[in-house]
Amino acid sequence: MIRPTLAVLLLFAVQSITVGDEPTSEDFGKTKAGQSVELYTLQSGKGLIAKVMTRGATLVQLHVPDKNGKSDDVILGWDDVAGYESEDNQYFGCTTGRVCNRIAKGQFTLDGKDYTLAINNEPNHLHGGVERSLDKVVWKATGYTRDGGHGVRFNYTSPDGEEGYPGNLNVSVNYYVPKDSNTLTISYFAKTDAATPVNLTNHAYFNLAGAGSETVLDHVLRINAATYTPVDDTLIPTGKIESVSDTVLDFTTPKRIGARIKKLDDAATIGYDHNFVLNPQDDKSKFYNLAASLSHKESGRTLRIMTKEPAIQFYSGNFLKRQTGKGGKTYAHRSAICLETQHFPDSVNQADFPNTILKPDEEYKTSTSLQFGIMQPPAAKSE
Ligand code: GLA
Repeated sequence: MIRPTLAVLLLFAVQSITVGDEPTSEDFGKTKAGQSVELYTLQSGKGLIAKVMTRGATLVQLHVPDKNGKSDDVILGWDDVAGYESEDNQYFGCTTGRVCNRIAKGQFTLDGKDYTLAINNEPNHLHGGVERSLDKVVWKATGYTRDGGHGVRFNYTSPDGEEGYPGNLNVSVNYYVPKDSNTLTISYFAKTDAATPVNLTNHAYFNLAGAGSETVLDHVLRINAATYTPVDDTLIPTGKIESVSDTVLDFTTPKRIGARIKKLDDAATIGYDHNFVLNPQDDKSKFYNLAASLSHKESGRTLRIMTKEPAIQFYSGNFLKRQTGKGGKTYAHRSAICLETQHFPDSVNQADFPNTILKPDEEYKTSTSLQFGIMQPPAAKSE
């Protein structure tokens, strides 16, 4: 009879954490306007813990184990709603929309009608607007379990004309953590009663060494993109799609983020802030396409981002300004990155870009999966 050794038993105890039946929820305080905000906790059996709040359907904490089994929160954020409502909040962890990224001069024409949106990133419209963009409103939430995994579904109906966008838009964002892996899947659904642009993403800022670490430039990144959309001085795409080869944007093989970033210090983007066009999925039967993979040697943590979206915005935290975040930690310039899966910026004004207009008889449906892991040691050479 084979008897399990103590070491094997201990390993088993560390790897299979007992997960409660239901995701739990708690009071996370109130907005300035007096609305109550709830915080939901989703937990996998492998150690990942995600906390998401009803304000902005926002990812507030994301704890994942390192190579020694030690857990750290790997995203930037705050310990209270006031932090998220402060000037320091640069879209930390939020659901971004109705249209993420930029719309040139806040203008577009749809079915012969001109629309004007708020200019909140001179001279353009950024991330859905000012007061009632999807990151700032309080959503309804329902926690659930599926196949032993934890989920929470957020729902919000944005009325016709909110932030200048046409149509009553019913939006759902679903966060799901399966029992058996350290994966967080974020799925988006929307229906409208009038044609309207929709482009949703999550704006989490990652640092795999733990949020509040001084830099992210030591992380190694691969982006599954041979081309990108060049931009003008105001970060609006010129309409061209160009090759990344022989440029600092070539992440087709893994590269240290800091290796070439200085070359972009004086660019309009002040670092990486680019939309990469994902290579087409080789195997069309596969649900997801690989967007990017990120690793951090010291902690051993890895992140693979899989998506149904055609592009990813890689933003290297260039505007982080040493704000004080969770647990009093400081968020320094380039101490975290965003990897925002999405359609191309300004698509509503670019006829040749993939369509972002949702019509009343259609359903907007997309999904992105964040798969955390541990770097594998190189395989031992066989004789
Ligand atoms: C996006 C943009 C950046 C910046 C951040 C928020 O990633 O592309 O230029 O506005 O959001 O600070």
